[in-house]
Amino acid sequence: MASISFRGLHKSYGAVRVLQRVDIEVPDGELLVLVGPSGCGKSTLLRCIAGLESVSGGELWIGDRLVNDVAPRDRDVAMVFQSYALYPHMTVRENMGFALKLAKRPPAEIAAAVDEAARMLALGPLLDRYPKEMSGGQRQRVAMGRAIVRRPKVFLFDEPLSNLDAALRTQLRVELKQLHLTLGTTMVYVTHDQVEAMTLADRIAVLNGGALQQVGTPAELYATPANRFVAGFIGSPAMSFLLGIEPGVEIGVRPHEIVVGAPDPALGRSYPATVEVVETLGFESFVHMRLGEDKLVARVEGPPPPRGPTTVQLRHHLRFDRQTGARLP
Ligand SMILES: Nc1ncnc2c1ncn2[C@@H]1O[C@H](COP(=O)(O)OP(=O)(O)O)[C@@H](O)[C@H]1O
Ligand SMILES: [Mg+2]
Repeated sequence: MASISFRGLHKSYGAVRVLQRVDIEVPDGELLVLVGPSGCGKSTLLRCIAGLESVSGGELWIGDRLVNDVAPRDRDVAMVFQSYALYPHMTVRENMGFALKLAKRPPAEIAAAVDEAARMLALGPLLDRYPKEMSGGQRQRVAMGRAIVRRPKVFLFDEPLSNLDAALRTQLRVELKQLHLTLGTTMVYVTHDQVEAMTLADRIAVLNGGALQQVGTPAELYATPANRFVAGFIGSPAMSFLLGIEPGVEIGVRPHEIVVGAPDPALGRSYPATVEVVETLGFESFVHMRLGEDKLVARVEGPPPPRGPTTVQLRHHLRFDRQTGARLP
């Protein structure tokens, strides 16, 4: 078990800077989710922890060790990738035990470690199968099992669920959370999916263009985003941004904070809007509207409004500096 510290960490490929002075303290036992759009530097940051990439500057600590110049095999971290990278000619049991075999651990110890990991991941009945005889979800469980048997100080996950269908992704997400609660090991989990980030994380670090935007609990990021980027990235459907309401300020409003039609005097000002598209999900609908030049999306329970003119009121909103994007009080 170990904490991880990024201190002014940066990384360039030639003249291209892909990580800009990242500072994050990950306490021992935390599940930190790194989230951000494709190409923002998530995998690079993870690979720096694993030692698969060298850092260009700053410090990277695992526990009380500065690991900038420590070889990957001496860092005591295990990484799980999107592609399962199992050995096709080995059974599940052999795949899971392989790292311990390489480390020349006694066979009885390897067998015990594999059995325990298999129990945690419900892989017991599959131990003698080959990767090609299993589903994607089962293969990803084996990849996790292979990481678990090593009992590393830190687990690293790089979009491990991206190749799976939606139902399986939800199921494995819950299993992963359970696994973290069972093992209590520090985990850094990369995803571009903000829903996955919100549901898994103890804390979330949001990256954009190689720059850290904010680190906080899911609730903190949702309620008090540091800036417009975080506000727009966290939450589904995304927050709407309105330029036409207050001069110099961009107003951010979440779908459930928009009241459509039948103005409520208690809610103050109402604005004329036009309903353009309605997406009905059953219990709720997402109502896409236009308010002047701005677009906005409301979440409505019960019968949705018809297309055409309506009024909207904002129950609660956030304010952002139009130039810098910083959230204003
Ligand atoms: N080996 C490399 N050489 C040059 N540029 C790279 C290399 N690896 C990644 N990059 C660039 O660094 C940026 C971050 O990549 P990556 O960390 O893979 O992003 P993410 O995982 O968030 O999608 C991207 O612009 C990518 O093109
Ligand atoms: Mg990546």
